[in-house]
Amino acid sequence: MNQAMPARERARAPEHVHHARLIDWVAQIAALTEAADVYWCDGSDAEYQRLCQQLVDAGTFTRLNPAKRPNSFLACSDPSDVARVEDRTFICSQQRDDAGPTNNWMDPAEMRQLLQTGDKALFKGAMRGRTLYVIPFSMGPLGSPISHIGVELSDSPYVAVNMKLMTRMGRAVLDLLGRDGDFVPCVHSVGAPLQAGQADVNWPCNASTKYIVHYPETQEIWSYGSGYGGNALLGKKCFALRIASTMGREQGWLAEHMLILGVTNPEGRKFHVAAAFPSACGKTNFAMLIPPPALAGWKVTTIGDDIAWIKPGDDGRLYAINPEAGYFGVAPGTNAETNPNCMRSLERDVIFTNVALTDDGDVWWEGMGPAPAHAVDWQGRDWTPQIAAESGVKAAHPNARFTVAATNNPALDPAWDDAAGVPIDAFIFGGRRSTTVPLVTEARTWREGIYMAATMGSETTAAAVGQQGVVRRDPFAMLPFCGYNMSDYFRHWLDMEHKLQARSSSLPRIFCVNWFRKGADGKFVWPGYGDNARVLKWMVERVEGRAEGEGHFFGVSPRYADLDWTGLDFDEQRFASIIDADAAAWRAELALHDELLGKLAQRLPAEIRATRQAIEAALPN
Ligand code: GTP
Ligand code: SPV
Ligand code: MN
Repeated sequence: MNQAMPARERARAPEHVHHARLIDWVAQIAALTEAADVYWCDGSDAEYQRLCQQLVDAGTFTRLNPAKRPNSFLACSDPSDVARVEDRTFICSQQRDDAGPTNNWMDPAEMRQLLQTGDKALFKGAMRGRTLYVIPFSMGPLGSPISHIGVELSDSPYVAVNMKLMTRMGRAVLDLLGRDGDFVPCVHSVGAPLQAGQADVNWPCNASTKYIVHYPETQEIWSYGSGYGGNALLGKKCFALRIASTMGREQGWLAEHMLILGVTNPEGRKFHVAAAFPSACGKTNFAMLIPPPALAGWKVTTIGDDIAWIKPGDDGRLYAINPEAGYFGVAPGTNAETNPNCMRSLERDVIFTNVALTDDGDVWWEGMGPAPAHAVDWQGRDWTPQIAAESGVKAAHPNARFTVAATNNPALDPAWDDAAGVPIDAFIFGGRRSTTVPLVTEARTWREGIYMAATMGSETTAAAVGQQGVVRRDPFAMLPFCGYNMSDYFRHWLDMEHKLQARSSSLPRIFCVNWFRKGADGKFVWPGYGDNARVLKWMVERVEGRAEGEGHFFGVSPRYADLDWTGLDFDEQRFASIIDADAAAWRAELALHDELLGKLAQRLPAEIRATRQAIEAALPN
């Protein structure tokens, strides 16, 4: 492009854009990446339809049978690009210690050299032969004082249509930005430039080189080489968690990997809880839960399924909003029995990624229901139940996902879009642990709760590339998402106690849960899903001071008689096997805590160590 042209022309900025800094930046990135064209998204439905059709024509999307799944599409990714890449994710703060021992770090100047300025900088010419999409988005309700605006520049139309469902995206955001509004610049390239005449592939990406980069001090995001999920939809984990967590630390609020739900009891009293479970450990399912018929007077509504921004109010309570506007949820395991609200959300207007295509033009995944006699698997190969039985090949990738607007959810809470947020009565932290961790435990103090959240372990899942099913520490379910030093993050949470108590007498309660204990047969003991409402009921009744429990060495858990078993055949012995906290197992668990605390020793708050010592001292012999 001709550098003598005015920036507006080089950026192809439409008439209605008046933001000089934005225009200059778009022009500059278009020049750096040598994008063939620039397209400014307006966020309209017509644009969405047009881009989806373009993706169909390009082979990225398959349009599903409109009689079965209206206005829905299937995308299948490159097998090298199926999940978040944690080892390629970087926090580039000026000081290494500010990223802390749990994050990958590189000097920002060095990273800029690598990505932008060096002779072989990855972004130089990265968008050759491709269109640069300008995607303005708001995390949080448009115009709300707690929302933040971002602009993603991406060479992926798949990203553009997903951002339309996942965020408030388009022209209204540009109008809000006006002439000089603040925005977080997010640059994304799939890292697959096209030479003149070179045919494109269905899922362009860079199989060998990926960088997911955050500069917390200048609040910038640069992502290269992947088109999948949190690597590419930069409003989600990169902005709403990694960058927002650093904003929250400075400004006195919290950006968390939490669902938010409303739960109403039979008397009509409503509570709100926020729950942090690691990736693929049950947030979407818990947020859409339908209590079993025996607990029919209880009702759960969804505010958010993945991310919460939480701010102290003048009354000393914490108020939470969901910064997203859609769900990017795990498909496998989702079915009409375990999550009917989710299945209803997926009836139309969905983008599926990496599930199987049935012969009648619909989708299927493991755990959805009876297997079709034949399907095309996520890698485009013939799939039959027999092939699966013989070779173990899965029809859908274990991290296959759906993208759908929140407004498709029949259990959507009326306040989901409310800029004021909802007041939080309880926090829940939970990992995926086949042993050791009880079904539910209430912390006796804020500090004890912070300790349990900080030292939480979970078995790794397909949501991130790497070994699966190995227990790792995942503090607050934020290990891959905290944009600064984890010890400073613990400090931020600990300090919240005093900040809130100065204004209010009651803090949110803190609970730890584990739906995933396994028996000797290797199967989950707890039925989970809708029956998690029994545990939720106990928790909100604890908040009300109505439910009993029994104290042990790290908190309070219900006895058999303290839970409502109506309509469920689950005997006392089975319950004992998932509620018990075994002293020997917990000695071993504390040793695992110590590994994490040792790693974080440099800035670790003294309260964390002290709580650990108190738990050890309370352990029975
Ligand atoms: P991310 O989107 O990766 O952050 O995941 P998530 O935390 O929202 O997890 P999700 O609700 O999508 O559940 C992930 C997997 O766990 C799915 O296969 C679910 O079927 C399964 N799952 C969810 N809740 C339960 C439960 O209570 N018990 C059991 N056994 N499995 C569950
Ligand atoms: C997670 O991994 O926690 C997700 C999916 O929610 S992704 O958007 O890919 O991060
Ligand atoms: Mn998540």
